[in-house]
Amino acid sequence: MNETKLNGQSADIVSGNIQKLKEIFPEVFCEDKIDFEKLQAVLGEYTDDDNERYNFTWWGKSRALRLAQTPSMGTLRPCKEESKDWDTTQNLYIEGDNLEVLKLLQKSYHGKVKMIYIDPPYNTGKDFIYPDNYSDPLKNYLEMTKQVDDDGRKISTNSEASGRFHTNWLNMMYPRLRLARNLLRDDGVIFISIDDNELENLKKICNEIFGEENFVANIVWQKKYAATNDAKGFSVMHDHIIVFQKSETFNRILLPRTSKQNKLYKYDDDDGKGLWRSDNLLVKTFSQSSVFPITNPNTNKDYYPPKGSSWRGSRETIEKWLEENRIFFGRDGKGAPQLKRYLNEVQQGRVPVTWWPFHEVGHNDAANKEMKNLFKTKSPFDTPKPSTLIKRMIQISSPEESIILDFFAGSSSCAHAVMKLNSEDNGQRKFIMVQLPEPTDRKSEAYKSGYKNICEIGKERIRRAGEMIKAELQAKQTNQPSMLEENKIVHPNDLDIGFKVFKLDSSNLKKWNPDSENLEESLLDAIENYVEGRSELDVVCEIMLKYGIDLTLPLEEYEVGGKKIYSVGYGALMICLDRDIITDIANEIVRLKKKLSPEVMRVVFKDNGFKDDSVKTNTKEILRNAGIDEIVSV
Ligand SMILES: C[S@@+](CC[C@H](N)C(=O)[O-])C[C@H]1O[C@@H](n2cnc3c(N)ncnc32)[C@H](O)[C@@H]1O
Repeated sequence: MNETKLNGQSADIVSGNIQKLKEIFPEVFCEDKIDFEKLQAVLGEYTDDDNERYNFTWWGKSRALRLAQTPSMGTLRPCKEESKDWDTTQNLYIEGDNLEVLKLLQKSYHGKVKMIYIDPPYNTGKDFIYPDNYSDPLKNYLEMTKQVDDDGRKISTNSEASGRFHTNWLNMMYPRLRLARNLLRDDGVIFISIDDNELENLKKICNEIFGEENFVANIVWQKKYAATNDAKGFSVMHDHIIVFQKSETFNRILLPRTSKQNKLYKYDDDDGKGLWRSDNLLVKTFSQSSVFPITNPNTNKDYYPPKGSSWRGSRETIEKWLEENRIFFGRDGKGAPQLKRYLNEVQQGRVPVTWWPFHEVGHNDAANKEMKNLFKTKSPFDTPKPSTLIKRMIQISSPEESIILDFFAGSSSCAHAVMKLNSEDNGQRKFIMVQLPEPTDRKSEAYKSGYKNICEIGKERIRRAGEMIKAELQAKQTNQPSMLEENKIVHPNDLDIGFKVFKLDSSNLKKWNPDSENLEESLLDAIENYVEGRSELDVVCEIMLKYGIDLTLPLEEYEVGGKKIYSVGYGALMICLDRDIITDIANEIVRLKKKLSPEVMRVVFKDNGFKDDSVKTNTKEILRNAGIDEIVSV
């Protein structure tokens, strides 16, 4: 039986990559180190050692790359009080710096996210760029979020006067995008909002991170409906949305046909073929074999294609269409032949285009109105995107069962869009929002209304938007009960409008979070494993995260002789964090294995949790006899 020691780090990306390299080129490894000359020889003409090769670089790039690869020592602590529908929801709201959070999600969500939408700071010279601290990013984050007092915010704007204006932005974006790519499914896709300030730089780093061949589109979104008359040069009316796929297996989904398009199909012959509209029977490309007379059976008049054009089909095809009653001779039956185009035979959707006008997806003002409507006051957030804009991105990319991530979540318009689309098409899409608890300005409307940081606005928006969408469904249900019976509308209770809140913090376990200046004492402290003030639930969630288990899996509690066993994902992982445990626990776990019958069961105990060594040995024996082969200690 294995007894694994779980370590406190997030995924170690470098060793994961080295392992992959070893599998492909075992011959280039010598005593676990890479022999670069050998690697070059193996790769032959594919290596480039010319100093003048095409490449995009800036000050700090290699440091930013290292930063992406350094595992996080932090954790995500659950916050039940601020969550909604904790026991059932599949959605997550995570408060924290997205760099650390993306690192922590690497194990649980690697290759699982279908779509990422981000709307990062555009680097306009006025927005806040969170400065990463390379030596201790987590400590830096904790200090920054705690130390917001009368001095106001600690996060500084990235002003154009700064000699490193673009560099600062690139150093912030580069490691985050690298980590984000790992979370995408192979058929996943990322949409990034940006304006002209950083468009070129964004495109270049995405080319490097995702591969030029995975560029999908540069969408132009008409964000405004009226020009700014006092604009110095041009009044900018649009933003860009850059789209990259993880690999060529991404398939865009057609957009639903509009009612305007469908309205054209207004005739029905009651022959079971459905609605049709008339279409031209002539084609532009001339073919001599498709020039022949078609006789109107009602008038016996012959019709020829006009000079230079031909019929849409050969003689045999047209005869077949006549037999099938697919040719129409005008409403009175006495006209020239036309083709009947059936609705169920045309493409069942619209190909997405790269021009998104405001009348289709909303504009900035509509986004502000949407917030105002929800909060019943002036919008508490300055730069929301319309949820309709993000809904369009989800429609194109994410089938009904998908995970959608936004790690610059702001007011959570992305979560709003996910819930809204689910309410329209009965989808089960889940969202993960990540947002820095950036303090709101003391003079702002938001602050005065009690929202002290952006996370408070984001969470409240989800609560309000969810309730509003549910109320809309309830109204539909009352007005059209037959629609509900025919499954044409979603049952309000089936809609997931909840979210589990997690907050970035240092590890809950002392040994995963040692005080490096006082190592001896912190080792002694580690005997009583938890950091003061942390709960068992904190530790259970940390184990799930570090083990790579989805944070939304159901968590149940069982009790034996006053000791608690947590069951994660219907028995996939059993956790007992009590001390002085005896073999009762093992027997109960075996009973639960029979009851829950998970595919595989893994069991976690506290390192020093057993009453004595013989209990530990007997526990292992009982579990092994029941087919449980993996015991983990923390
Ligand atoms: C342009 S706003 C996003 C607006 C959002 N799309 C909406 O519709 O409300 C960018 C957000 O990213 C957040 N942010 C900036 N740096 C961050 C970081 N390091 N981690 C997490 N969030 C960050 C900012 O606080 C801001 O709310």
